[in-house]
Amino acid sequence: MGSGIAQVAAASGNAVLLNDRTSELIERGIGKIRKQLARGVEKGRLSDAGRSEILERITPAPAIEKFDVDIAIEAASEHLETKLAIFRSLDAQCAPRAVLASNTSSISITELGAATKRPDRVIGMHFMNPVPVMQLVEIIRGIATSQETYEFTRDLAERMGKTPVEVRDFPGFVSNRVLMPMINEAIYAVYEGVASPEAVDTVMKLGMNHPMGPLTLADFIGLDTCLAIMGVLYSGFGDSKYRACPLLRQYVAAGWLGKKSGRGFYVYE
Ligand code: CAA
Repeated sequence: MGSGIAQVAAASGNAVLLNDRTSELIERGIGKIRKQLARGVEKGRLSDAGRSEILERITPAPAIEKFDVDIAIEAASEHLETKLAIFRSLDAQCAPRAVLASNTSSISITELGAATKRPDRVIGMHFMNPVPVMQLVEIIRGIATSQETYEFTRDLAERMGKTPVEVRDFPGFVSNRVLMPMINEAIYAVYEGVASPEAVDTVMKLGMNHPMGPLTLADFIGLDTCLAIMGVLYSGFGDSKYRACPLLRQYVAAGWLGKKSGRGFYVYE
């Protein structure tokens, strides 16, 4: 999602520093952006000059050091320790004015804020996948997030052409508190032999007008991410209704993580 966020930020006129674990990963991200922009040019939505301007606004930044930025948006994997380490490093290296935002799908913004010396400037900025296409950004206020930080982040989301929605910092926020139990229940329906993955997806696509069935969507999000989010809901609420389906656990244990690994509920060439 990081490359999608960088693309949309640059397309809306912002100068972007793009960081990742290695230079190769940064190049891969820029490659994805190039591909997306080429599609925009092909479809006549973007001029050649427009594409070059967007790409020129993106600078690879292989290390987090002395970032003179207004905002840093973190989009690492859904692992608390990984995110805490990144927030400590951003806090040490970013300009004091910088807002530190997380694209987390479910991890506590309050906890990320507490790992920094600027919890008032820490906030959730949760984009949806695919970032260039989806309209929503959930803006999550941690317990210490200031009104100024909230307004800055909301305005930035609007300037990026998105529709921000304000939510409070409780497990799964709104998006995944509603979406993930639905996906988990769809997996239970397959686990219990109620129907095949194709049948479950067809019911939800044709019966509820969802653009993708829940199992296709789970493969698209990543089954490891789905499992991690169920874990956050389960431990955060201490309620057994959020227990992850054993079939989801088994797929993740097998390395069947969905589209990104070539196999999940479906097989990808
Ligand atoms: N990146 C960028 N653009 C993409 C894309 C991608 N990965 N996938 C599709 N698109 C673009 C296509 O280029 C196309 O645009 P143009 O017509 O302008 O070229 C447009 O989206 C529609 O694509 P398609 O016609 O190929 O396919 P579609 O009509 O089936 O739409 C979809 C694809 C937009 C992904 C649609 O299936 C959809 O809305 N699916 C549900 C997505 C969803 O629920 N996302 C939220 C996931 S949850 C999450 O992100 C948060 C979390 O915390 C887990």
